[in-house]
Amino acid sequence: MHRLALIGFGNVGQGLAQILLDKASVLKAEQGFEAKIVAVATLRKGSLYHPDGLDLKALIAAAQTGNFNAYPDTAGLVRGLDPLATIRETNADVIAENTYTDFNTAEPALTHVRTALTLGKHVITANKGPVALAYREIEALAKHHNVYFGYEGTVMGGTPSLRLARLGLAGCTISGFRGIINGTTNFILTQMETGKGYADALAEAQHLGYAEADPTGDVEGYDALGKLIIVANTIMGLALKIKEVERVGITKISSGDIKQAQAEAKRWKLIAGVRKSADGQVQASVRPELIPLGDPLASVGGGINAITYDTDLLGSVTLIGAGAGPQATGFALLSDLLELDRRC
Ligand code: HSE
Repeated sequence: MHRLALIGFGNVGQGLAQILLDKASVLKAEQGFEAKIVAVATLRKGSLYHPDGLDLKALIAAAQTGNFNAYPDTAGLVRGLDPLATIRETNADVIAENTYTDFNTAEPALTHVRTALTLGKHVITANKGPVALAYREIEALAKHHNVYFGYEGTVMGGTPSLRLARLGLAGCTISGFRGIINGTTNFILTQMETGKGYADALAEAQHLGYAEADPTGDVEGYDALGKLIIVANTIMGLALKIKEVERVGITKISSGDIKQAQAEAKRWKLIAGVRKSADGQVQASVRPELIPLGDPLASVGGGINAITYDTDLLGSVTLIGAGAGPQATGFALLSDLLELDRRC
């Protein structure tokens, strides 16, 4: 039985809680997997801790009211622990870090991750900041303390883009990749093709839980860039930094540009790509590209993501699937928990 503490309880944390609630008996029967959430710590909703586990139905219902005041008081319930106290002082053995992503400092998530790993607690996260900025350090820390660090949800939600490369393509040399790895911008571009305005499309992407807390990170290409860095550094073994990579967002694409592309049987897509040539030169960029309709990436619409890995032994391998949203990203955390369960 794993005991989880969730740091941050927005779309992703609530997505995981809902899956654990809905699928508890299936997970136990089919995977031999059991987990309970013992603590949740947030900045805005408050914090809850019960060493025997929280009631997930009541937890989700309380979160939807905007704070945990509505969660029923029971014997042994502790309220008000801050995130670091939750990591340090509760009986959780797995910390799920899902506070907001910050690509400048990775804080406060990086401190949460470091603290948990140093205490010998496993960490799973969909937070891109720590992995994009400090992957090598985190991996070394996890190894030193003999604990698991799972970060599948940082790229393409629960569609197993990292696990495919890390496990399924192990033994292949990956010389590059190209993909649509931001759901919000892909959703906006697809909606604009149906005549919807940019602002309405963005509002809908926010409503669906695709967009970051500050959607500037999505539409200006920072989110895709952070994910590009994660794939490049964790899968291809590169050491790219955010400032080294060309980045152009979608904010300058107008309805007229979309119509012009349609007239030419093409589509605008925000493409993230990295290519390492035989002499070791690396080219990397995130930018809108005009894609002919015959290109497989042209048919990837809405919040769906895709990535094509270029490998030596299989040629191109493409994975397409949900890239954002509470359920898709909640599943990513579950997939890390299942890997942790099998390994430890
Ligand atoms: N804001 C991100 C997206 C969420 O739109 O793809 C998933 O990382």
